[in-house]
Order: sequence, then C-alpha cells, then structure tokens
Amino acid sequence: MTGAVAMPRAWQGDAFSAALETVLHTPRLRLEPQRPEHADALFSLLGDARLYTHIPQEPPPSLDVLRERLALLSTRRSPQGDELWLNWVVRDAREGALLGRVQATVRADAPCYLAYEVFPAHWRRGIATEACRRAMHWLIDELQVEQFTAEVDSLNTASLRLLQRLGFRRVSLRANADRFKGRASDEWMLRLDAADFVRGCVASPASR
Ligand SMILES: CC(C)(COP(=O)(O)OP(=O)(O)OC[C@H]1O[C@@H](n2cnc3c(N)ncnc32)[C@H](O)[C@@H]1OP(=O)(O)O)[C@@H](O)C(=O)NCCC(=O)NCCS
Repeated sequence: MTGAVAMPRAWQGDAFSAALETVLHTPRLRLEPQRPEHADALFSLLGDARLYTHIPQEPPPSLDVLRERLALLSTRRSPQGDELWLNWVVRDAREGALLGRVQATVRADAPCYLAYEVFPAHWRRGIATEACRRAMHWLIDELQVEQFTAEVDSLNTASLRLLQRLGFRRVSLRANADRFKGRASDEWMLRLDAADFVRGCVASPASR
C-alpha cells in the first residue's frame, strides 16, 4: 500500500484540461477560470475586511503572495491529482468590472464543495446567485457532479440566505467548529443533490 491517490481516468488528457479553461456566461456575467494574471486587479478588491467577517481567512498579505497562490491554483488540481480545484473570477459581462469569485472543489468520491465571495460594492444584486447557478450547472453537465456541499459560519446570514435560495438544505450544526476573529464559530453544513438543483431551476427558471 503506497497510500497514493489515483487521478480518475475521466480527468486525464488534454481535452479534459482544455474543458477546465472554459469561460462561462450568463445574461449579466462572465465567469473566467482564475489565472495569475488576475492578481493585479484582484489584490485591492481582496483587501476589503468585510469579506472576511465570517471566515477564518485574511486579505492576501502582498501582491506577490497572491500571484503565487493563483499560479498554484491554476493547475486546477490538487498535488495528488485526486481533487479538482476550480476557481472562477466573476466579471460584469458588459463593463468588465470584477464582481467576485466562485470556487468548487471536486472529488470523485465526495460531494462538490462550493464557496464564493462577491465584492461589497456589488452585494445584494443577485450576483452570487447567478454566478453560483451557472457554475453549478457546468459542474453537473461537464463533471457529472451529483451532490454539492457548503460549510458556513452560523452568523453568516448572507451566505445562508444564498444557499437557501440555491436550494441547499441544512444538514448539521457543529458547535465550536472553528475559532477566528476573536470568537468561536458554530458551523452549518449544507447539502444539495444535483437532481434537486436541476429540478428547482426548471420549476423557477428566472435567475435574476
Ligand atoms: C455571501 C455573499 C457571496 C452573497 O453575495 P450577494 O451577491 O450579495 O448575494 P445575492 O445578491 O445573490 O443574494 C442571495 C441571497 O442572500 C440574501 N442576502 C445577501 N446579502 C445579505 C445580507 N447582508 N443579509 C441578509 N441577506 C442577504 C439576498 O437577499 C438573497 O436572498 P433572498 O433571495 O432570499 O432575498 C456575499 O455577502 C459575500 O461575499 N460575503 C463575504 C464572503 C463570504 O462570507 N463568503 C461565504 C463564505 S461561506
């Protein structure tokens, strides 16, 4: 037993790697696979402390650190190859302004972990809803994702509302799951079956 984790066969080959570079579109948005070249434009936006109120992370300490991080993530895979690390920057389709990011961690043997942020100037315009829906449809259509999961600080009302709007259900609450920003964090785990997501979108197609 080496403990080595094999990369799923379906994730191998140039065509698959090229598919991971697909730009996604919605009526208002353009989701571009994140690249190191995005670092300059992202750096000041990621410096806004309001993004980190309910998560342990902090703003990137320097542009170089951010660029290095984005270069690592641009491989779109974990070092062992058993996870896809997919990150999109979300732009206004008309003006080109950066509005936020969506992140998906995909494993062959586990639900797809979803995360997101929208820069504060654009909060409450339905950007996260529209961007997550588009990424989730792509993950289902192209990677055959069967279930999504998310973990959210219990005080993060905006994130919980977003997930509810997307159709997620709360599965469990873990008390003292983490400690950051000088307090203990209780954390909801939420889940959504891909089939339920697709059904929900058919039943109410307006993506706002
Ligand atoms: C969570 C976040 C991505 C939401 O982005 P957004 O583009 O403003 O969300 P939307 O406009 O698509 O709104 C989605 C739902 O959340 C609700 N919502 C958004 N911000 C809210 C707030 N501050 N308080 C209460 N509800 C809020 C919206 O009303 C909507 O629900 P509704 O349709 O039932 O009314 C954004 O607040 C954010 O980036 N927060 C900081 C980063 C973060 O915490 N990420 C999540 C880590 S788990």
